[in-house]
Amino acid sequence: PQDQVLKGKKVLVTAGGTSEALDPVRSITNASSGKMGLAIAQAFQQHGAQVTLITTKPNLASVHDIELIPVTTAQQMQTAVLQHFPHNNVLIMAAAVADFGPQVTATNKIKKNPQSDSWSLTLTKTPDILQAVAKIKQKSQITIGFAAETQNLIANATQKLTAKKLDLIVANDVSQSQIGFNTDDNQVTFIRPQQKNWQTPVTSKQNIAQLIVRQVLDLLQ
Ligand code: PMT
Repeated sequence: PQDQVLKGKKVLVTAGGTSEALDPVRSITNASSGKMGLAIAQAFQQHGAQVTLITTKPNLASVHDIELIPVTTAQQMQTAVLQHFPHNNVLIMAAAVADFGPQVTATNKIKKNPQSDSWSLTLTKTPDILQAVAKIKQKSQITIGFAAETQNLIANATQKLTAKKLDLIVANDVSQSQIGFNTDDNQVTFIRPQQKNWQTPVTSKQNIAQLIVRQVLDLLQ
């Protein structure tokens, strides 16, 4: 480890995109690779924290001294987060959670209907994990969200910071191809209540993760 500044702290991180099944072979998902969340988990582990990583991409890399919890759906991720959050000091939600999933999951593969050129699907809301966490959060606990936006980055992210009662939101412009989903680099803006926003340069997700560690050290003071 580089240092032990976070020794004794327990940190819960989520990573990857959830996947909501339509039938045994099809699903609704997104382009999240799980790299951002993994980099965060590794950075906190390097600074001496005890890290649990809830991820949809458990095979991305071999991790040392990180407890790995594989999940697939938003519901499974919520169950795992709510189970572990009470025992953790910090929660960082880097996962891209589906906001909607199919109302029903077919038991068998859905067949093409020769009589019809279209197919309508009814989607229903998945649980909002950070919203549920906000209800059980203790004053001593730190919660951090990401906001993936393609427009009005700061305004939309600030709204999520307030609605989800977060200590920090990491605003991520996902309209650019070099940063955000499924890239090695990222650029984010840190937004905290009553603080000046701060935009990072474009840099590796590992460096972004180190900057998040610094934000947490500041929040813990
Ligand atoms: O995995 P990578 O390929 O490395 O890409 C990283 C990333 C782009 C996925 C990551 O940096 C990122 O921006 N993650 C958040 C993606 C997202 O779902 O953002 P959102 O604006 O839809 O959600 C806001 C926050 O609420 C997020 O912290 C999200 O985890 C959380 N959320 C969202 C929906 C939901 N039902 N429950 C939640 O808790």
